[in-house]
Amino acid sequence: MNYKVITGIVLCFAIIFSFGMYKVFANQNKEVNMSDKKVLVAYYSHSGNTKAVAEKIQHLTGGDIFEITPKTPYPKEYNVVVEQASKEKANNVFPELVNNGNVKDYDIIFLGTPVWWYTMAGPVKTFLKENDFNGKVIAPFCTHGGGGASSTYIDMQKLAPDAKVLEGYTSYENSAKENEITSWINKLKF
Ligand SMILES: Cc1cc2nc3c(=O)[nH]c(=O)nc-3n(C[C@H](O)[C@H](O)[C@H](O)COP(=O)(O)O)c2cc1C
Repeated sequence: MNYKVITGIVLCFAIIFSFGMYKVFANQNKEVNMSDKKVLVAYYSHSGNTKAVAEKIQHLTGGDIFEITPKTPYPKEYNVVVEQASKEKANNVFPELVNNGNVKDYDIIFLGTPVWWYTMAGPVKTFLKENDFNGKVIAPFCTHGGGGASSTYIDMQKLAPDAKVLEGYTSYENSAKENEITSWINKLKF
């Protein structure tokens, strides 16, 4: 073998080794390590609070993000949407979605909702009803206006009985903090 061939082989090994070490260190430095799990962050948000939490989770986990969107958008005006949501809850309405989403390709679904009348918002009910959660893990989160999660997570488990619903992350309006979300995720037993 001549000098050029040997140099080439040594260089190849050096590049492969450096890439391997880079991957090891990149994983160690990540605050959240989802290893090889496929992560989806699905959420509905009416006024942006839950969306902000979803985006933080997406940033931390590197998962895909899916906004649950009702076919008919809810009115923006607070009193009007409160009234409509009350009627929908009383009549057990499952509002149609633009796209039901697809949880098939994922292991863990972070699922976010605002608390509406002590439970999840209607579009999130539809998302749970229209997807097959058999063998899936749901890591739920919600934002609320002072009443806490109420029965949001219990009701999620009822609508997806085949899923393993983990402990949720609950925050008031837009007060969620990235360090709190990080420690919540790190405590979850996937
Ligand atoms: C229709 C409706 C019902 C609500 N019901 C509750 C409730 O039962 N408990 C509560 O603490 N907050 C309630 N809120 C306040 C929202 O949960 C809170 O503002 C939330 O952060 C909104 O999230 P979003 O910005 O992602 O839509 C309600 C808000 C609306 C619009």
